Amino acid sequence: MTATDDLSFVPDFVRAQEFFQGQEAYAVSPLIEITGPDGQSILAKNETQRMGLGAFKALGAPYAVARLLDDAWYEKTGETLTRMKDADFREFASGHTFVCASAGNHGMGVAAGARAMGAKARIHLAQTVPQGFGDRLRTFGAEVVRSGDVYDESVAAAIADAKTPGATLLADGTWPGYTEIPKLVMEGYCVIAEEMRQQFEASGQWPTHVYLQAGVGGLAAAMSHMIRLNWAEQPELIIVEPGAASCLRASHLAGRVTRSDGPDSNMGRLDCKAPSIVAWDVLERCGVSYETLSEEEGQAAAEAVTALGIATTPSGAAGYGALCKRTNQQARTQELRPLVIISEGLA
Ligand SMILES: Cc1ncc(COP(=O)(O)O)c(C=O)c1O
Repeated sequence: MTATDDLSFVPDFVRAQEFFQGQEAYAVSPLIEITGPDGQSILAKNETQRMGLGAFKALGAPYAVARLLDDAWYEKTGETLTRMKDADFREFASGHTFVCASAGNHGMGVAAGARAMGAKARIHLAQTVPQGFGDRLRTFGAEVVRSGDVYDESVAAAIADAKTPGATLLADGTWPGYTEIPKLVMEGYCVIAEEMRQQFEASGQWPTHVYLQAGVGGLAAAMSHMIRLNWAEQPELIIVEPGAASCLRASHLAGRVTRSDGPDSNMGRLDCKAPSIVAWDVLERCGVSYETLSEEEGQAAAEAVTALGIATTPSGAAGYGALCKRTNQQARTQELRPLVIISEGLA
């Protein structure tokens, strides 16, 4: 970490909510009840249809794109951005290119967000990323560049690319010297927690345990921050990672940001070997515990949730997988009302 890194996370979640409420494609995602392996009721926040992108990530990068263009437009005109569809703004936006490396949903969010605002997106994909994903990005108007053999090399390429004029790096992870833009991504995710808080306020039925799957930790940290900030009844928070990529847990145990190198995981969206330094700092303050899943447990969770009617992946179902694991291990001593987030659908 550098002396100037600001790890504080103070999201303006009201402006995020107001932004999305003004978007045609926005709707509160369903909060439903599903049945666990031994018949217990589980609350499931279903993100599999979010804003036509099929994952909660639709709330992250597109929001950050809008915020960054809003700031740039204000600097140029002194006007806050209320007319995103007007020709002069779109002409202005077309001079901006948002750049990232991706192996999945974040890249889709950057591409979709840039297109929605009239800006450009350039996404760096490692050779390991299937051709089909590149094709899907192109349908959102993104330029796709093959960079490096593995994900870390595509990140390095995106960082270098973002130095070209008109380009901005829009990553979801944070690292020493790069923290502010990903905080905007996390600010967008806060909308998920606010949607649920309002529903729990109305029903009075607060969850006792919240399972949050993590890659770099942006989602888990945004949710944990919001839950500790303003939920009337406080649940236990359990952060769920693949055993092959448990960098947040490793950092917690080490008391400092730590990599967790291991084999590739089939929980591909969660297969992050280095945590977001901002997310790690938030989680350290939120009193969370950690759970890891084996590859088999991740796969079984995806099959179980899909059989319950929500078609998802091992990453999308990882919270459910951890819940099953804990339920099997613990004697039940209290009434449990667990909550999981089904974070993506099957593309
Ligand atoms: C479906 C899905 N779930 C969970 C995550 C984890 O989010 P984060 O990397 O912010 O921890 C991701 C990240 O790409 C994802 O795509």
